[in-house]
Amino acid sequence: MIRSVVRGFGAALPKRVLSNRELESMVETSDEWIVQRTGIRQRYIAGEGETTASLGADAARAALANAGLSAEDVDLIICATSTPDNTFPATAVNIQNRLGITHGFAFDVQAVCSGFVYAVATADLYIRGGMAKRVLVIGAETFSRILDWTDRTTCVLFGDGAGAIVLEAQEGQGGLADRGILTSQLRSDGSHKEKLYVDGGPSTTGTVGHLRMEGREVFKHAVGMITDVIEQSFEATGISAADVDWLVPHQANKRIIDGSAKKLGIPPEKVVVTVDQHGNTSAASIPLALATAAADGRIKRGDLVLLEAMGGGFTWGAVLLRW
Ligand code: UT7
Repeated sequence: MIRSVVRGFGAALPKRVLSNRELESMVETSDEWIVQRTGIRQRYIAGEGETTASLGADAARAALANAGLSAEDVDLIICATSTPDNTFPATAVNIQNRLGITHGFAFDVQAVCSGFVYAVATADLYIRGGMAKRVLVIGAETFSRILDWTDRTTCVLFGDGAGAIVLEAQEGQGGLADRGILTSQLRSDGSHKEKLYVDGGPSTTGTVGHLRMEGREVFKHAVGMITDVIEQSFEATGISAADVDWLVPHQANKRIIDGSAKKLGIPPEKVVVTVDQHGNTSAASIPLALATAAADGRIKRGDLVLLEAMGGGFTWGAVLLRW
């Protein structure tokens, strides 16, 4: 049986760090409020010349180097983003060009903060369906460019960055001991649109627009949706929370991460948290967290890793994989 196995990982962050203290001089907020309510201490902000595609390409190069591969070895690029360089062409195609290749194919996936989970699930289907052998799956965002920097309820929460993995078709036995993706569970419900959206777009206002969020409303739904989809992953595989080596959640808010882990019975020492360093980087947050924990030696070959995310739409989903 063909499995989609993680062969490499990489990350890229903008040069500029924006601390909570600096935000205190921009809007009426405090380091104390931000840390207490979200766990965020700093975030990275893209500067001149840094874009979603440039960060995505840097993360892709790092993932290829980590895998011991070159761009020539990849036949599909999927980029999860809600902040593309242009309305079209897709950021993934822009990244393909930056990597200097013209073979294969590339496209974007748009599921906001759940984008990376959606992209991994999509890549897995292309691999298991035989249409691709090696896929670069990238999450890349520059949310700083769609924030209303006068709105303290949103501008303190988000940051920019990119992360990537290389997924490769490898032969498995079909059991839970196989390396690779074991299950993906995806959900969406468009009736929640007004709780988290961008108030512009090509077909409505003709402008890019700004992010708008009813944070408390999103918060109310987050833990329940995340744990539901994780429980579906457990049911689909027969795996239980006790078997999970690492929970690598979407990094929106430390309180959501802690609440979800607690509800599932996953102890804090098995949860990868990077929201303090990166803020909420939407589709980039999971691959950034994965790259952090794999680079520092926490996530090791053979570990059972659980990814989960929830975001605008609403969209939500989980992926269970053996590293
Ligand atoms: O990644 C996609 C999914 N997004 C999320 O998961 C975000 C989900 N939501 C959250 O993380 C939290 O709801 C927030 C961090 C956005 C807000 O935390 P909260 O505990 O839900 O606070 P709140 O919205 O209930 O606001 C509490 C108070 C309000 O003042 P009043 O009405 O109680 O007087 C806000 O005006 O905090 C005030 N406030 C702030 N104060 C200082 C809101 N933003 C700020 C701020 N600094 N930046």
